[in-house]
Amino acid sequence: MTTGATEREQWGSRAGFILAAVGSAVGLGNMWRFSYVSAQGGGIYFVALYLIFVAMVGIPVMTSEFAIGRLAQQSPAQALKRLGGDRWSPLGWLFVFCGFGILSYYSVIAGWTIRYSVDAFRHAIPTDTAAYFGAVSTGSGAVVGHLLFMAITIFIVLKGIHKGLERAAIIMMPMLFLLIIALAIWSSTLTNAGAGYGAYLNTDLGNISFMSVVNNAVGQAFFSLSLGMGALMTYASYLRSKENLGKEATIVAMTDFGVAFTAGLIVFPIIYSFGIADQVGMSMVGALFIALPAGLQLLGSSGDWIVLAFFIMLFFAALTSAISLLEVVVTAFIDHGMARRTAALGAGMLIVLAGIPSAVFNLNLLTAIDQIVGNFLLILGGLLTAILVGWKLLPQADAELAQGMSSKTARKGWALLIKYLIPPVLFVVLILGVIPATWTSIKTLFGI
Ligand code: PFF
Repeated sequence: MTTGATEREQWGSRAGFILAAVGSAVGLGNMWRFSYVSAQGGGIYFVALYLIFVAMVGIPVMTSEFAIGRLAQQSPAQALKRLGGDRWSPLGWLFVFCGFGILSYYSVIAGWTIRYSVDAFRHAIPTDTAAYFGAVSTGSGAVVGHLLFMAITIFIVLKGIHKGLERAAIIMMPMLFLLIIALAIWSSTLTNAGAGYGAYLNTDLGNISFMSVVNNAVGQAFFSLSLGMGALMTYASYLRSKENLGKEATIVAMTDFGVAFTAGLIVFPIIYSFGIADQVGMSMVGALFIALPAGLQLLGSSGDWIVLAFFIMLFFAALTSAISLLEVVVTAFIDHGMARRTAALGAGMLIVLAGIPSAVFNLNLLTAIDQIVGNFLLILGGLLTAILVGWKLLPQADAELAQGMSSKTARKGWALLIKYLIPPVLFVVLILGVIPATWTSIKTLFGI
């Protein structure tokens, strides 16, 4: 069931592959979730714990996904069945389901960034940003943004790995890095920047329990690093050259962290300099879509340019992540013999439909789907991936890694983590934290 006569596509260069993987990781999660979660729960402790998780869990899981992908040269849906046997086939399809589910609401949020960018360019963002956000985020406007964003995503995926995904990453990622650095420097010049940094990296544990900080850190790590749903496995399946996959995973994870951390250095000084801190607690998205433009409005029309730069950056981040979400779905169908064009258009259109309820109804639905798919299912996917690699495919995965990763000690360390540390840690987090939190958000959604 491979692609038959046609050669499997490939990345054009190592840099192209790394930028595409960084593009998948750096997304709305970095801008929208990281600093907010930090300020709300644990500040500097959250950041420290997050880094520990990235090193001990994130990088080894990413290395495993890379190894399996490159080894299999197939979509996860087919690869897991071939390598692990029939019992592992559902995991591959769970990945496809996650790509489908996450993109359906991710694209709705990304659609808002298009609207914000256009309105900032036209100097048309009203002073009452809360009302504006209400109008943009639900109803027909949100549906239009969602459609537009999906159309661009589908267009890039249609073009294929080299001409579509890789080219998009090579163009957009450097621009994103420049924008984020420029904005962070600008933010540091604001009068109350120090207070903002203080709130972001506070040392106040308040009444937050250790378990909930752990929860947030693990959930954030999986979502932000695009782990647990085969996205990076898929990207590595288009890789044939034998580079050091442990090193690539470290580069991707650290760049992702760098961007998330820097985003906080932009958002918090703005919030504190314009005295709008009280608006931030309203919701996860409140900080970015309501407080930030409200603060920048006080600068007059120059503020609009900052808003524009910020939302364009967000748009690039979202787009390079969305294409990886769609690619997971598309590649599974391509490996079943479907043409890329048909697969991209078909899957894309189904996702457009699936996202409409998130665009039309209130934010509770979007938040609940994010909790179920973007948190619970990703961690479950990560746990199962670790079990599969650590307990069933270790010799093959290790041999694959050995092709570019010559240090035996590094490979031994990776094997110990993936086999003995990661499965129990993820299991405990799932049972004690994620499942109860998911249940709570389902109850909130249905008002019970
Ligand atoms: N990593 C992306 C973000 O931080 O926004 C979201 C994401 C993309 C999650 C791709 C999972 C994935 F497979």
